[in-house]
Amino acid sequence: MKNTKNQSIPEKFKKIIGNVLQTSYPKRQGATSEVQFFHAEQGNYVCKCSSLPKYRSWLLKEAKVMQELNAKTALSIPTYLDFEEDENNSYLLMSMEPGIPLREALIVAKTVEEKKNLIHSFGTKLRTVHETDPPLKWKQQACWLDMQLKRAAYNLNNYEVDGNQQLLEKLILNKPETIPQTLIHGDCTIDNVLVTDNQVHTFIDLSETAFGDPRYDIALAIRSFLFDKELLDAFYTGYRLQQITNEEFNYFDGGLYEFF
Ligand SMILES: Nc1ncnc2c1ncn2[C@@H]1O[C@H](COP(=O)(O)OP(=O)(O)OP(=O)(O)O)[C@@H](O)[C@H]1O
Ligand SMILES: [Mg+2]
Repeated sequence: MKNTKNQSIPEKFKKIIGNVLQTSYPKRQGATSEVQFFHAEQGNYVCKCSSLPKYRSWLLKEAKVMQELNAKTALSIPTYLDFEEDENNSYLLMSMEPGIPLREALIVAKTVEEKKNLIHSFGTKLRTVHETDPPLKWKQQACWLDMQLKRAAYNLNNYEVDGNQQLLEKLILNKPETIPQTLIHGDCTIDNVLVTDNQVHTFIDLSETAFGDPRYDIALAIRSFLFDKELLDAFYTGYRLQQITNEEFNYFDGGLYEFF
């Protein structure tokens, strides 16, 4: 676990949260933020805090996405409560949802059957995202993949990323055949879904959620069990909408994802 800085939080959040009985932290902190859990008299809350400019802009994006999705869809995601900024940090306050990340649940699972059941529910839950009607204005935006390739070029020129110029050119020249866009999570790894009662139930970490290419979600979802046929089958049995080819997997997971 990364050392936590035990961030102070905005005064306004303290008013919303009320009397805090206990503070705790997730087992794994992500790369882009510090997360604190506040256990208060009237409920449990999450404060997500980012400091670097790139990550502060992602956190603002996440705040906006959560507000839109809370208002316009029935998706299982945390409830947005507030967003604040000061000179050094940005802070997002949201509800704390029950459960543990799927990555942890898979480690705890004792049998292959339990793991298959978890992955099957991941596929089923991802289908609900791809079948949810996105907010209208999201549908009117330019092609998601074209926007991502532009963002990839920007990230390559301005930030440290795993991808390089050669890979980016390859991605621009070899775009996969277009398919209908859907609502997508946008960072759909086993770290970003929470499990309760042995089922994937809640999506978190929503800064990349958009109207986009569902193959990107599938690629990130299956990356950790791509070579385990039983788990892969369990995923697709739950997901049902389509399967991606190895080429598509490599385009999105080993390709586009390298720039984010
Ligand atoms: N609303 C929530 N309810 C319960 N737990 C949460 C919630 N939000 C975050 N967490 C916990 O905090 C961890 C980190 O949160 P999150 O994935 O949003 O941030 P991150 O990983 O820093 O983001 P990134 O992946 O962009 O680096 C999660 O894995 C989860 O354990
Ligand atoms: Mg995360």
